[in-house]
Amino acid sequence: MTTTLIDRVGLLYTGDPEREEIADAALVVEDGLVAWTGPASQAPDADRRVDAEGRAVIPGFVDSHAHLVFAGDRTAEFQARMSGEPYTGGGIRTTVAATRRAGDAELVARARRLVREMLTQGTTTVEIKSGYGLSVEHERRSLEIASRLTSETTFLGAHVVPDDMDADDYVRLVAGDMLTACAPHAKWVDVFCERGAFDGDQTREILTAGLKAGLGARVHANQLTEGPGVRIACELGAASADHCTHLTDADVEALASSGTVATLLPGAEFSTRSPYPDARRLIDAGVSVALATDCNPGSSYTSSMPFCVALAVREMRMTPLEAVRAATRGGARALRRTDVGWLRPGARADLVVLDAPSYAHLAYRPGVPLVHQVFRGGLLLEEDIQNPPPVVVL
Ligand code: NIG
Ligand code: FE
Repeated sequence: MTTTLIDRVGLLYTGDPEREEIADAALVVEDGLVAWTGPASQAPDADRRVDAEGRAVIPGFVDSHAHLVFAGDRTAEFQARMSGEPYTGGGIRTTVAATRRAGDAELVARARRLVREMLTQGTTTVEIKSGYGLSVEHERRSLEIASRLTSETTFLGAHVVPDDMDADDYVRLVAGDMLTACAPHAKWVDVFCERGAFDGDQTREILTAGLKAGLGARVHANQLTEGPGVRIACELGAASADHCTHLTDADVEALASSGTVATLLPGAEFSTRSPYPDARRLIDAGVSVALATDCNPGSSYTSSMPFCVALAVREMRMTPLEAVRAATRGGARALRRTDVGWLRPGARADLVVLDAPSYAHLAYRPGVPLVHQVFRGGLLLEEDIQNPPPVVVL
């Protein structure tokens, strides 16, 4: 049983509310788990020592909302948007057509590449949705591929109604045969509850069927317009209501008095040039908030949690502490996970060494590659991005 001491940490953000930040800290990893955190001066001996040289350490990011199984490209749609076209979600069907045409090997390679991109930017846990297949076989295939890359897989057959189908028939299919085929590969069920996608009744029907099949619920809610999505998510005990861009007071109250996390996806507002969600209103009302990338080829083609943290601080008036909290522990809450998203004894040793003295630099130095090292399950994942790994065997 090897123990590793990560020593000389300038600032350790643990994410543990009992001792959220420790200056001049150290951390001991044993068997892939955090065994000890505290002041470096009190650190116990270990078999190996990693010298953080005064850098900040944070938990690995938990990206609780991503759509990574797809093929094709929507650059033209993005360019049109940047010339003034609105985002409607209609482009989802373009990606569905390209995804259906693609072979398994291409889909796996593309998703793997995005996960890799995420890892190098500090994301150690990612949720992956289906939703670009929209037939029993294509949704099942998407989830089978997603489950090779993460245990946090989400069945999003209810992304949009495919072109060749009647809406009621499609809802019956999603809640019936498609769910049956997909449930063995999925942990969660999700619905895009929005004008032009699925209405309140359809959303309730699909989520209820998913819950009955043993999946947990999450909802794409209130992204483009006000609507029933957030309230349905809270009512059904969904783990998360995602987007939350257009909220009524009743929505905010429902979130505040439920166990449902509001997952904000500022990459989507950035890439669709839309108003950002009102994070302050949610936090001040006591709502539990998460940040995620929504990585997808249409509305948010970023895999970068650091970018989302910077957006959250600059554009949504979150403090750097609130943003980092939402990107780590918040994401873990949105996935109902207690083993990741924080660095306290017993948690998985998923952590990021930043080439910066504080996590605040994620927003203070936007767009700068600050991820120095990533550890997942206590193992150094990347050979150090910038320098050779300073792992010293004592
Ligand atoms: O979360 N809103 C629905 N789904 C994605 C967008 C998908 C797409 O445009 O391809 C989202 O933003
Ligand atoms: Fe999404």
